[in-house]
Amino acid sequence: MKKAELIIDRHFVLSDIDKRLYGSFVEHLGRCVYEGIYQPGHPAADKHGFRQDVAALIRGLDVPVVRYPGGNFVSGYHWEDGVGPKEQRPARPDPAWRVIESNQFGLDEFMDWAKQTGVSPMMAVNLGSRGIEDARNLIEYTNFPGGTYYSDLRKKNGRSAPYDIKLWCLGNEMDGPWQEGHKTADEYGRLAEEAGKSMRMIDPSIETVACGSSHYHMPTFGEWEYTVLSHCYDQVDYISMHQYFDNRRNDSQTFLASSDLMDQFIEAVVSVCDAVRAKKHAAKKIHISFDEWNVWYHSGGQDKEIAPWSQHPHLLEDVYNFEDALLVASSLITLLRHADRVKIACLAQLVNVIAPIMTSDTGAWKQTIYHPFALISNNGRGHVLQTLVKSPVFESSHGRNGISAYIDAVVVENDDENALTLFAVSKHLTEEIELSCDLRQYAGWHVDQHVVLHHEDLKAVNTENAPDTVAPQAGSGCSFEGGRLSVVLGRQSFHMIRLTAEKV
Ligand code: AHR
Repeated sequence: MKKAELIIDRHFVLSDIDKRLYGSFVEHLGRCVYEGIYQPGHPAADKHGFRQDVAALIRGLDVPVVRYPGGNFVSGYHWEDGVGPKEQRPARPDPAWRVIESNQFGLDEFMDWAKQTGVSPMMAVNLGSRGIEDARNLIEYTNFPGGTYYSDLRKKNGRSAPYDIKLWCLGNEMDGPWQEGHKTADEYGRLAEEAGKSMRMIDPSIETVACGSSHYHMPTFGEWEYTVLSHCYDQVDYISMHQYFDNRRNDSQTFLASSDLMDQFIEAVVSVCDAVRAKKHAAKKIHISFDEWNVWYHSGGQDKEIAPWSQHPHLLEDVYNFEDALLVASSLITLLRHADRVKIACLAQLVNVIAPIMTSDTGAWKQTIYHPFALISNNGRGHVLQTLVKSPVFESSHGRNGISAYIDAVVVENDDENALTLFAVSKHLTEEIELSCDLRQYAGWHVDQHVVLHHEDLKAVNTENAPDTVAPQAGSGCSFEGGRLSVVLGRQSFHMIRLTAEKV
């Protein structure tokens, strides 16, 4: 049997994990808001129209932060259209997705929903079609206590206390020619600097995210980050990263190696951030907000069939299969392995639109990718240990020097829960691999849980009628004897192994 080894030392801590690594994203796009989190009149909806069946599934993901309202949508959005009496709100064309936005759900509804669902907001401002003044007005509405035009408007709309929103995205994908109000790096860098400054004049306690490149292969990648940060370094805390994966070539082995691309992308962005830091002789480090990531390609054909200017059509409704779930697990492991620099990450998106949760008029169910996210989010809290993985490898165009490891793994320790958790993916499609780890530093601990996600068919999917085709099961073949943890990872599988100690 092939063998792999993990090497850790409990004193070699990479970083505390910022819980916002397990964020998600709600955009006014397709059926994410309407028929997703919000559907007045639906049997599962409460008096506000918030679907409680969906909210229960979201709680199962333990998502601490949700980005809103876009995405490409935000670059043409007038937030004022979505507040106040619903019967007076205008319908508008949304140029980003070529649909009609009714504005029946807006900022106040989102904040009510966020409070009820137990998530905190990550709000994006429109720096595409709009600019500094609108961003400042918005933060006056959300964060100013009262006695001014926009804070009193909030009160008039029935929300007396300020929302106190702490995390703000300065636009979305401003490097992309598809974006309304697309800008050069110099134009955007200056605008982000001035918008961030103006917003902080209203509320100095906020954190801001500048737009990085829309993806790794943008021709302006690298230069964009360098120029933007050279302008706005002092006014921002994070730079964004976005990355979507696909298996259009139906080459599953290479597809599963896509997390190597994420790894290289993060390293490259960190290098650029630190180059600007060096140039500026700055003490402050810029961290990463990986605020869009997922698999996205299944729905491409069906989206082309959708006629423009309808309301909340079935856009970007990818039906995820088992190999997608494995890649989502590997991606989260990659994010954890960079937890010293990646502080925020958002699985794009949350419901119906490239999402872990799907809805119909009759129910809500978990897609395959729900499971690795839920397992890692619920158990991957605490601090990350530097995890060296000695693994058999395979040739892949996505790996460094054309080589990728069959095993992705990371170890997380949680002092509050006295727990040590190993997350591991085996990308081997035909053979088992025995993984072992010297854990003599954890003498007296025991294996409390071993959960496996596996399916014989990489293309297996969950549907409303068969929602548990791909679901976690109890694992077997894991032992912890003489200070050595050993587990046999079956072909194409994701594992969570949790060791605990009695509290003293
Ligand atoms: O998440 C879907 C879209 O992908 C977002 O609107 C945009 O920011 C990205 O290109």
